[in-house]
Amino acid sequence: MSFAEYKELIQDGDTAIVFLGHESMFPVTIQQGGQTQTKYGVIRHSTDLIGKCYGSKVTCSKGGWVYILYPTPELWTMNLPHRTQILYSTDISMITMMLELKPGSVVCESGTGSGSLSHAIIRTVAPTGHLYTVEFHQQRAEKAMEEFKQHKVDHLVTVRNQDVCKNGFGVSHVADAVFLDIPSPWEAIGHAKDALKTEGGRLCSFSPCIEQVQRTCLALNEHGFAEINTLEILLRTYDVRTVSLQIPNFGKAVEEKENPESGDASKPLSGSQQGCALLKSGISPRETVGHTGYLTFAHQEFI
Ligand SMILES: C[S@@+](CC[C@H](N)C(=O)[O-])C[C@H]1O[C@@H](n2cnc3c(N)ncnc32)[C@H](O)[C@@H]1O
Repeated sequence: MSFAEYKELIQDGDTAIVFLGHESMFPVTIQQGGQTQTKYGVIRHSTDLIGKCYGSKVTCSKGGWVYILYPTPELWTMNLPHRTQILYSTDISMITMMLELKPGSVVCESGTGSGSLSHAIIRTVAPTGHLYTVEFHQQRAEKAMEEFKQHKVDHLVTVRNQDVCKNGFGVSHVADAVFLDIPSPWEAIGHAKDALKTEGGRLCSFSPCIEQVQRTCLALNEHGFAEINTLEILLRTYDVRTVSLQIPNFGKAVEEKENPESGDASKPLSGSQQGCALLKSGISPRETVGHTGYLTFAHQEFI
């Protein structure tokens, strides 16, 4: 198992996703002799998981079943242990496209945080690219390194424990793209410029507040970045549901009204006389879509 490639069989040491439903899943580290409790009973790793194919339906001790899924960055984002606020797949997908990331890209990132974005970047730039990620919180930096090792992507990433605003990314003129998710990104723009290849590259900064965006855009302008562009993405999901719609009663037609033998046309039909139609429909969940942050993109070109 590696977050950067696919394998069919579940092995000792893998991180797998136990899938009980779209709203209920969790990661598990597979261990010879290990056990995992679910609401459907226990799963025994040696007999129930190791050697089976990813995607298998596994019966738990109480007779219920779960699916065991291969871990992808998207599933990891939904299930990872939060050490910070994280980026979600909607923003990550736009970041990946707008930074033009592809296999072989070299990327600088700060801060690493909980590694949600890092896993997506690593998967995209593998097998020949590299991620240099900077996190000034020591425990977070160490935990990220541990996870990258466990997920067998540590050869694709370098974690540095330093302040990106003071000390930069620890590399010069190697990056195709730079990504910032820190409270004061404007203080790191000079270092971002230094990290980018001499022929230039792309930059993205994520900030929740518009005042942070304003300061970042001014700094980008001062450092000669072009095509400065801020956007926000709002995701709207739909649940497919069977809904019952009452067929409206508009009263009887004019001809029927004029013919009193056809009954009292002015009276509306009672609830039981009125029909209902059942149909499948896409229903948007009640919660309003929340603001995550503004994404500011810019380009640095060799002059
Ligand atoms: C919101 S989190 C990043 C989350 C990350 N993008 C993810 O998807 O998991 C911000 C991180 O930046 C780190 N940080 C803040 N300022 C920093 C700086 N000047 N240098 C390095 N890291 C910094 C914080 O410790 C925190 O872990």
